[in-house]
Amino acid sequence: KGCKLIGCGSAVPSLKISNDDLAKVVDTNDEWISVRTGIRNRRVISGQSHTCGAYALHYKRKQSVGPLRGKESLTTLAVEAAHKALEMAQVDVDDVDLILVCTSTPDDIFGCAPKVQKALGCARNPLAYDITAACSGFILGLVSAYCHIKAGGFKNVLVIGADALSRIVDWTDRGTCILFGDAAGAVLIQACDGEDDGLLSFDVHSDGEGYRHLNAALKENETDDELGSNGSVLGFPPRQASYSCLQMNGKEVFRFAVRVVPQSIEYSLAKAGLPASSIDWLLLHQANQRILDAVSTRLQIPSEQVISNLANYGNTSAGSIPLALDEAVRSGKVKPGHTIAAAGFGAGLTWASTIFRW
Ligand code: ACO
Repeated sequence: KGCKLIGCGSAVPSLKISNDDLAKVVDTNDEWISVRTGIRNRRVISGQSHTCGAYALHYKRKQSVGPLRGKESLTTLAVEAAHKALEMAQVDVDDVDLILVCTSTPDDIFGCAPKVQKALGCARNPLAYDITAACSGFILGLVSAYCHIKAGGFKNVLVIGADALSRIVDWTDRGTCILFGDAAGAVLIQACDGEDDGLLSFDVHSDGEGYRHLNAALKENETDDELGSNGSVLGFPPRQASYSCLQMNGKEVFRFAVRVVPQSIEYSLAKAGLPASSIDWLLLHQANQRILDAVSTRLQIPSEQVISNLANYGNTSAGSIPLALDEAVRSGKVKPGHTIAAAGFGAGLTWASTIFRW
């Protein structure tokens, strides 16, 4: 069996936060952010408990842009993106037999794919589960969908990349809070007969050694003194878990990305038997324009062939690649038959690339 990518969709929250808006709550400015990252705006799910302190005070009266909707969540964004992908693919929701939700910020820590399945209204209860791999999540979701199809048994697979890093950033830390936004994107991958695979090759990696450079870890357990401070013996029952905000060594992550991403894409290209010059589009995780520029220069792919929308949305983690793909398809940039080199990279550390045909 082969497979083809036949539909895509995306969704972003209605609350738009500009660099100037951020400059009112942390010590930063539009010039610093746009020169170092290329980011000008981001969208954020509003009304969450994370939007606290100065940030909430400043924004509570801020108007949302776009059509008014009901309460937004990661699930509502994922469902909207999935519906659009199904509509483009002309596949009925009841014909979906696998849903993969790639996210590190689910609405429920046990996973949000079954919630998405229910909200989509899938009558046949297809298998639905989460994949947690930060900004590499969507590419790893594509690869997992491909493996499920190859192993047999699945015909229509929805791969959804959705994240709301606004939930886990420290909104008082100017080094990180300026980078991220919330979004969801989805693609529909369908099994097909014949050897004409839409997914031509892939390359996947993890390196736990680099974990210290980017994480949002469970807080270390209380000291021995604190254990039992609630009157319990030997620290039982244990305290409720809590997680730290996202911590990042930006320079190390930057160096890591510009080193491993070109290598991985070169490897995927070699596996597919294609030269870099045969690529129509380079579609990278939208973390920083300078990373996009460095990788495309290394691969000698002209900047006109690099898909970039991070000026409008910032780094939306697992949502960024399918969101950028969807915009490029709907604007007519990416056309049927085009060959795309895509790569994700981020916390873990993880990184993954694939060559696929639209
Ligand atoms: N506004 C103004 N000044 C700032 C800001 C800000 N928002 N943030 C930091 N600064 C200051 C620093 O305090 C520092 O000041 P100092 O020189 O007086 O000490 C100076 O600017 C330089 O700070 P650096 O952190 O060294 O800036 P750098 O050039 O490394 O740029 C950045 C930071 C943009 C984060 C860059 O390192 C980067 O993009 N790294 C990659 C990050 C990335 O892509 N992460 C996503 C991974 S995907 C995932 O899985 C989540």
